[in-house]
Amino acid sequence: MLEGKNVNLRVMEKEDLPLFTEWVNKPQLFFVEKKDGSKIGFIAHFHVLHLGTGSKLLEIGYSLVPSERGKGYCTEAVEIMVDYLFLSRESMRIQACTDIRNLASQKVLEKAGFKREGIMRNAFFWRGKWTEDCLYSMVREEWKEPKILTRT
Ligand SMILES: CC(C)(COP(=O)(O)OP(=O)(O)OC[C@H]1O[C@@H](n2cnc3c(N)ncnc32)[C@H](O)[C@@H]1OP(=O)(O)O)[C@@H](O)C(=O)NCCC(=O)NCCS
Repeated sequence: MLEGKNVNLRVMEKEDLPLFTEWVNKPQLFFVEKKDGSKIGFIAHFHVLHLGTGSKLLEIGYSLVPSERGKGYCTEAVEIMVDYLFLSRESMRIQACTDIRNLASQKVLEKAGFKREGIMRNAFFWRGKWTEDCLYSMVREEWKEPKILTRT
């Protein structure tokens, strides 16, 4: 369990799968739970294989149920995840991509301290159109120390 101020992140268990597959049908890692235990979304991290060097880049993705958006929960979940990844991995960089029209997601990343690197043109084919995506990252030198989690 990764404990934040208003939400916790916990590893998904087998019994969580039906709810999760309702939201998105691909493997992810952490539910975002409120302190009363209600599940309000998920945050995932995954590796993007960089074929040239064989190195693995860490990327995160997230989504909350509509009724719980705009309350700061996702920003806190991203901050917890960044702390967790930099504390537990040797990675030098965490990245995230978001559709250029997704202002809420861009705001989340900026509030959590990510820097915008540029635009990925024709990034994904989504609902019949190629998207323009913003690429964001945080590098280890910018992170410095945990915001929410503690080193134990
Ligand atoms: C993106 C998402 C996860 C954000 O979650 P959230 O808990 O609402 O995020 P937060 O409350 O921490 O922060 C959202 C910020 O965006 C702002 N925002 C929301 N909609 C906005 C809009 N249309 N234009 C500009 N800013 C907007 C909010 O005001 C808030 O900023 P503030 O704290 O300065 O007021 C949520 O909107 C979501 O689940 N969207 C659908 C899935 C998705 O897009 N996932 C990301 C894919 S990359």
